Amino acid sequence: MMQHANLPAHVGIIMDGNGRWAKKRGLPRKLGHKAGAATFKDIARYANKIGLKYLTTYVFSTENWKRPKDEVDSIIELLRSYLNEMDGYAKENIRVRFIGDRSAFDDDIRAKMQRAEEKSRDATGLTLILAINYGGRAEIARAAQLLAQDVQAGKVSPEQVDEACFSSYLYTDGIPDIDLIIRTSGEFRLSNFLIWQCAYAEYVLTDVLWPDFKPATLDAALEEYGSRSRRFGGLTGGQG
Ligand code: IPE
Ligand code: IPE
Ligand code: MG
Repeated sequence: MMQHANLPAHVGIIMDGNGRWAKKRGLPRKLGHKAGAATFKDIARYANKIGLKYLTTYVFSTENWKRPKDEVDSIIELLRSYLNEMDGYAKENIRVRFIGDRSAFDDDIRAKMQRAEEKSRDATGLTLILAINYGGRAEIARAAQLLAQDVQAGKVSPEQVDEACFSSYLYTDGIPDIDLIIRTSGEFRLSNFLIWQCAYAEYVLTDVLWPDFKPATLDAALEEYGSRSRRFGGLTGGQG
């Protein structure tokens, strides 16, 4: 286990490359997702162990519904079985949160999500955030709608609407912005992930396919992050 000097408060991971990992092995794509799910569990535990405070992972995007039905179904089945294992997180001091539109999912899945959040509510270690049926633009449009409703109801005046006010209508209310975004599988794009929250994020891109991602791959990304000079538009480079 590595000690990191400038640990980011919030890391986002775009877990990409499950399909290519499977293809390389002549396996069906759904086995790539299965291997990816195992990697996800390991990395979440490791992130907690090294003292990371927030980890948000891109599990399923609002655009992923475009995939063949059998692939989408296999991802939802993996989610269902993973949700059954989530009771253990409270004991590990990991707090769980889900972001995205849950209304697309069956009642049992929604109930399990809520249960996992409630059971782990008081955990003080890692906050593990799963973005499921999540899209950055959908999140912003939803926030605008909720805000418009509050303005119409007289709860908020237009003059009060600033960045902090708007942020409080996002799914990530109360969670710090992303410091470090990691994307696997050699792609150089955000794919609609946390577009508001990544405004000043550092990017670390790796060719590693998600199922091959190891704690050491995370360590390397954190090291890289620690060496960056973040300026936030100013001149003096604060560290990490
Ligand atoms: C990421 O792996 C998982 C999801 C998007 C659900 P992909 O399934 O996108 O893998 P590639 O990009 O096809 O290799
Ligand atoms: C982003 O990966 C979504 C997730 C990792 C859940 P995609 O594989 O869907 O992204 P694109 O289509 O290559 O941009
Ligand atoms: Mg992909």
